[in-house]
Amino acid sequence: GKRRPLVMGNWKMNGRLARNEALLTELKAGLASGFDAIDVAVCPPAPYLGQASKLVAGSAITYGAQNLSTEQDGAYTGEVSSGMLTDLGVKWVLVGHSERRSLYGETDETVAKKTQVALEAGLIPVVCIGETLEERKTGDTEVVLARQLDAVLPVLGSQPASAFVLAYEPVWAIGTGLTATPEQAQEVHRFLRDRLASSGYAQAQEARILYGGSVKAANAGELFAQPDVDGGLVGGASLVANEFIGIAKGAV
Ligand code: G3H
Repeated sequence: GKRRPLVMGNWKMNGRLARNEALLTELKAGLASGFDAIDVAVCPPAPYLGQASKLVAGSAITYGAQNLSTEQDGAYTGEVSSGMLTDLGVKWVLVGHSERRSLYGETDETVAKKTQVALEAGLIPVVCIGETLEERKTGDTEVVLARQLDAVLPVLGSQPASAFVLAYEPVWAIGTGLTATPEQAQEVHRFLRDRLASSGYAQAQEARILYGGSVKAANAGELFAQPDVDGGLVGGASLVANEFIGIAKGAV
C-alpha cells in the first residue's frame, strides 16, 4: 500500500531506568534489520524521554511523548511544553488518549488545542479517538467518532497527511484483552477515512489510521492486513520486547 505502517508503543505510566534500558536495548537489537518498510516508535513517560533518546540513537526507532501542554513555557506547574519535547528530539505526541479524556477531563476542545500546539511545534500528533462499550451498545459508535474527529478537522484539514496520525482506540478494547475483530476495526477505519474525505480533506487516502486496544503479536498481523488499518498503538504488549517485536513483524 502507499501508506507506510507505523507501530507505536505507549508505555503509559510504566518504566524505570534499568527496565527501560533493557527493553530499548532488546528492541534495538530485535528491530535492527527487516523493518525498513515500517516506522517503529516508543512513547515512554516524559521523565525518560532523554534516556530513550540516547538509547535509540543509531537505530530507526523514534520516540514520542504521551501528552503535551496546551501552553508554552511559563507558570504551569507540572506541565510539559511542546518546546521541551522538540528540545529532546521527540517526533510524535499522543493527543487525547482515552485515559487523558476519562481520567484528566480532556475535552474535544482541549484535544483540538493540543493538536494545534503540537503541529505548530513540528511534532506529529497522534490523535486518539474511540467509543466506550456503552456507546457501542447503544449504536452510537459512529456519532461519537464523528464528533471526536470533527473536533480536530479544522486543525488537521490544512495539514499534509504526513503531519499527523489518527488512532482508533475503542475504549472497551484498551487493556481488556477484548481486541476488536479485524472486521470491526476495518469498518471503523473505513468510516473515518471516508469522513476525512467527505469533509473535503484531499489527502484522506494518505492519512495513517492506527488501531489500538489489546494488540498483541498473535493478533497484529490480521488487524494490520485490513485495508484501512495502517499499524497499531500498543499499550501493555509494548512493555515486553518479544511481543512488541512480534507486533512490528505483523506490520511488515
Ligand atoms: O495507547 C494504547 C492503548 O491504550 C492500548 O492499550 O494495548 O494495553 O490495550 P493496550
